[in-house]
Amino acid sequence: MVSTATQIAGFNFDNCLMNAAGVYCMTKEELLEIEASAAGSFVTKTGTLEARQGNPEPRYAPTTLGSINSMGLPNMGYDYYLDFVLDLEKEPNSKNHFISVVGLSPADTHTILKTLEASAYQGLVELNLSCPNVPGKPQIAYDFETTENLLTEIFAYYTKPLGVKLPPYFDIVHFDQAAAVFNKFPLAFVNSINSIGNGLVINEETVIIKPKNGFGGIGGNYIKPTALANVHAFYQRLNPSIQIIGTGGVKSGRDAFEHILCGASMVQIGTALQEEGPEIFTRITEELKAIMSEKGYESLEDFRGKLQYLD
Ligand code: DHB
Repeated sequence: MVSTATQIAGFNFDNCLMNAAGVYCMTKEELLEIEASAAGSFVTKTGTLEARQGNPEPRYAPTTLGSINSMGLPNMGYDYYLDFVLDLEKEPNSKNHFISVVGLSPADTHTILKTLEASAYQGLVELNLSCPNVPGKPQIAYDFETTENLLTEIFAYYTKPLGVKLPPYFDIVHFDQAAAVFNKFPLAFVNSINSIGNGLVINEETVIIKPKNGFGGIGGNYIKPTALANVHAFYQRLNPSIQIIGTGGVKSGRDAFEHILCGASMVQIGTALQEEGPEIFTRITEELKAIMSEKGYESLEDFRGKLQYLD
């Protein structure tokens, strides 16, 4: 009797595995494929106030150890995802979902979140503070003062469950500073990590994606140690009411197990889902359950956050 069920902010999920924002979530058709898979939920492509075409193609490329992308926030506009999820969740036995949003300016972000606040949607929202790919727009979460000001403004009116998607941090003092900011707010969750921003992959003598002369966010195998470090650093530092979603480098049950051991309550899959398709959720769920049975764990609570240290 092994279960990979989980909860985020009181919302139940039959399975802790789901897509990472940006992968298999641009259109209703893709989202319905995730819905029909073994995934416990989906998150929608980060929606902006207006629909966007994104950057020129090729803008995603797989590599031997992962992927590089500079999508540039192509999306159908946040209201497309809101309307779709509202409709879907009217079905009896619908899963619970996450709507990912961000504005291209603080004013846009407030317009979006005020609309969500006033809407019928009572579910989870993931505010993306970590898009690395829009030319001229730095990642919000690398500026702690801007992040604190934005969250202060948001929580003056926003009362529904809200979490933030974060970029990777690479310094212990930055973990301390970021956690101190997030602990000031009634966040439902933080999701670590987004891609490692602005890497460069070269084939022969040439870059492999077109935008920004080849610079793009790195995902896949390369980023698992950074992802695990961010998940565990926040698990050690955040108020227990702020749950953690682990994202980065998951392509096996063992990878998902490690994220949960580091403190993740839900685990998202990006590059490996892009490469393998939604059937991946069946495979990884079986692999995770096999590891749990072998160790005598029946639920995620039996090992979540219980990473062991050397004496
Ligand atoms: C994009 C990439 C990201 O990593 C992200 O968080 C948001 C958007 C993109 O380029 O579309």
